[in-house]
Amino acid sequence: MTVPGSADAFEALLARRGPDLLVLVDDALRIVRAGREAALLAERPEERLIGMSLIAAFGSAPLDAVAWRALSSGAAQDGEAELGPRAPRTFTVDAVPLPRGGLVLALHDVTAVRRGERVRRDFVANISHELRTPLTSVKLLAETIASGSVDDAATTREFAMQIEREVDHLAQLVDELLDLSTIESGDTQLTTEPLDPEAVITTCVERIRAVADRREIDVTALPGPPDGAGVRALADPGRLGQALLNFAHNAVKFSHPGGSVRLGWIADDRHVRFTVADDGVGIAPAHQGRIFERFYKVDRSRARAGDEDEGGGSAGLGLAIVRHIAEAHGGRAGVVSQAAAGSTFWIEVPKAT
Ligand SMILES: Nc1ncnc2c1ncn2[C@@H]1O[C@H](COP(=O)(O)OP(=O)(O)OP(=O)(O)O)[C@@H](O)[C@H]1O
Ligand SMILES: [Mg+2]
Repeated sequence: MTVPGSADAFEALLARRGPDLLVLVDDALRIVRAGREAALLAERPEERLIGMSLIAAFGSAPLDAVAWRALSSGAAQDGEAELGPRAPRTFTVDAVPLPRGGLVLALHDVTAVRRGERVRRDFVANISHELRTPLTSVKLLAETIASGSVDDAATTREFAMQIEREVDHLAQLVDELLDLSTIESGDTQLTTEPLDPEAVITTCVERIRAVADRREIDVTALPGPPDGAGVRALADPGRLGQALLNFAHNAVKFSHPGGSVRLGWIADDRHVRFTVADDGVGIAPAHQGRIFERFYKVDRSRARAGDEDEGGGSAGLGLAIVRHIAEAHGGRAGVVSQAAAGSTFWIEVPKAT
């Protein structure tokens, strides 16, 4: 259970490796020394780990396998293992044989890195999907026109208009993606100024009116709170306006014709909260926690069907942009909703003092 001469080297390594976890084992893969971090990971006191087999201490076959490979080959080996009994984290494992027997195992936590990689992969897969759908339509429509099989001008024009709509979807998607990436990168400098909440809301009502009229939805600005005179929100007018417009667009898109959308605001000591309420399709509790994620849509087919009359894209990015805008202001965004009854979306920004 001892590895001669290794203790000093181990201590030296332990001191140098920083956040890495180090474990020293003998030729039978029994633990000779374990750093404090390794003991935490195994959820046992350091002294209890001594003499334990690697597999008993960490319960990880992949970790054991890397160690055995290093022992039997006499050369350094590496691999990856999920460790930690309760909330497993991902570690790279380097197993280095020592000249006089035994191994040093260096574990490096790469959980965050792997998570980032997964998010990036999902992101690319989602974008590809969102781009492919309109592209396929455009290609089919263009092919049909090019093949000469439509000979009346009216149908040709109808196809050309469909192509135009699909290209608009693509353009909006690209705009949203660019927006999201600038906001997410933290490069956007907010230019905040004291804003009259009434004016913020009136502007948004005016901007959404044309789309709402087309879908026969009534948009109104609710009266502000009775003690609201003089209250100012400290926000970037462009970004806050964009967030409210995204809410309003959704409210119109997910309302039934004849419905109403109401914009309002309230304030407490520190925040001004803007609300956009509708009596549309609503959102079931299971989805409420996820709709602010990029690309998340409750019902893909409905989101797209809704677009056709609205002429805008539906990528599932609008709310992700709102969340980032809220956070960039040091504020928050959320929703209160009931399926089949309606939703109230809100964004909170600091109050100017
Ligand atoms: N007012 C609402 N009523 C019901 N469901 C909503 C409402 N607002 C958003 N949702 C749900 O949340 C999803 C995500 O909304 P988000 O604005 O992020 O994306 P989108 O509107 O589908 O696409 P985009 O905004 O990128 O054009 C929507 O697809 C819809 O399922
Ligand atoms: Mg939207």
